[in-house]
Amino acid sequence: MTDNTRREFIKQAALGTTAFLAMPSARVLGANERVRIGMIGVGGRGEELLEQVLEIPNTQVVAIADVYSRRRDQARQKAPNIQALEDHRRLLDMKDVDGVIVASPLHLHARHFLDTISAGKDLYCEKTMTWSIPEAEQCLEAAKKSDRIIQIGLQHESSGALADAREWIKDGIVGKVTHVESWMSRNTPHGKGQWVRPVPSDCTSQNVNWEAFLNGRKESQFDAYKLINWRLFWEFSGGNVAENMVHQISWIISALDLGVPSAAYMSGGVFSEKDGREVPDTIAVTLDFPKDIVVTWQSTFSNKRYGLGERILGSDGTIEHIEGGSEMMAAKSEEVIHYYPEEVNRSHGSRLDGTTQDQNHMANWIDCVRSRKTPNAPVETGYRSALAVHMANLSYRQKQRVTLEEAKAYKPEY
Ligand SMILES: NC(=O)c1ccc[n+]([C@@H]2O[C@H](COP(=O)([O-])OP(=O)(O)OC[C@H]3O[C@@H](n4cnc5c(N)ncnc54)[C@H](O)[C@@H]3O)[C@@H](O)[C@H]2O)c1
Repeated sequence: MTDNTRREFIKQAALGTTAFLAMPSARVLGANERVRIGMIGVGGRGEELLEQVLEIPNTQVVAIADVYSRRRDQARQKAPNIQALEDHRRLLDMKDVDGVIVASPLHLHARHFLDTISAGKDLYCEKTMTWSIPEAEQCLEAAKKSDRIIQIGLQHESSGALADAREWIKDGIVGKVTHVESWMSRNTPHGKGQWVRPVPSDCTSQNVNWEAFLNGRKESQFDAYKLINWRLFWEFSGGNVAENMVHQISWIISALDLGVPSAAYMSGGVFSEKDGREVPDTIAVTLDFPKDIVVTWQSTFSNKRYGLGERILGSDGTIEHIEGGSEMMAAKSEEVIHYYPEEVNRSHGSRLDGTTQDQNHMANWIDCVRSRKTPNAPVETGYRSALAVHMANLSYRQKQRVTLEEAKAYKPEY
């Protein structure tokens, strides 16, 4: 980047995003036409999504943009014919890109989201949809004014387990639900904190566009550790509620059609490994929802015996969804969902086992890019789950319960 383009980049970041000028009209795709994809941010998750999209028939990855040269080289190895760019705006200028996958760090999601739809491209944006509530409002508003197809990277919205849970709830066999409990647990060897990644020796200021990574965040010296381990710092991350609770809370919100929480409380701290991280590793969240339902989520990084799961507790029955491992990234074979009747109110009921197959979340987005139908995790789902995440974090950082109104009125720093 020249000094001028760098200055322009920062100026636009300060504005929040590139201005919404006349929205370019996108190509109308025939049912069998090839969908051409670009990607912004091809790190750990981006590489996985690149592999996923390369497997989808009649889809072509045309270009990627990443601020770190190593990532561009790695992407080229996986897809040799792509253009590998440093500046995401050059990718969005490309006429031969129909849809864009965003897998950048959390503090960049809103910018990449807004820039992508204002460039007239369809969007697959990794979760959590945004870093803050004002950004979530901005993205929701922009999406409502746009005809772009938007899928949020909440892949459990495409799970068979969600379809099963919805069916049982619709059939009325769960009864009145007042409480949902959920949990997620991981462990690491002593002395090795969850999420901490080694910094490659080529991660230098020469090989990284640090200002583009900062995107208007407090000006600071190049910091390779923060680039690689952005998850550990509030300035860039939302901690484990943004990384993992979001999947489960979104699943619960969708199963019960809960909307946005009315209040949140979160306690915990950095207890497992005191390695300089800011975001807590031990967490207990309580979310109140307007339909007389309390949802709890707890998490630890120093015990993984109980994996992760959700229990929907109804007056007439229980839905139990368990994943043995604590890996949210891929649906694991040991994932199970069952329904158990409550003897007192359904004495003749019997246990049910979920049987619905998962859908491929990425393929669902590509299908919708062609059909213009609504994908499984649309922007409203991204918005609701993002609000739950940000309300929980705000409560933790303010050390008090926060209501939806208080959370919406709060102006986040940075
Ligand atoms: N859905 C899931 O199961 C799942 C799993 C893991 C991660 N994620 C999400 O994916 C996102 C990325 O996580 P990750 O682990 O891949 O992080 P990462 O740090 O490995 O990758 C982020 C990439 O973005 C690049 N980048 C930084 N600033 C950029 C900019 N301005 N323009 C273009 N590229 C830029 C970095 O160089 C890096 O290659 C996060 O939001 C995370 O929550 C989702």
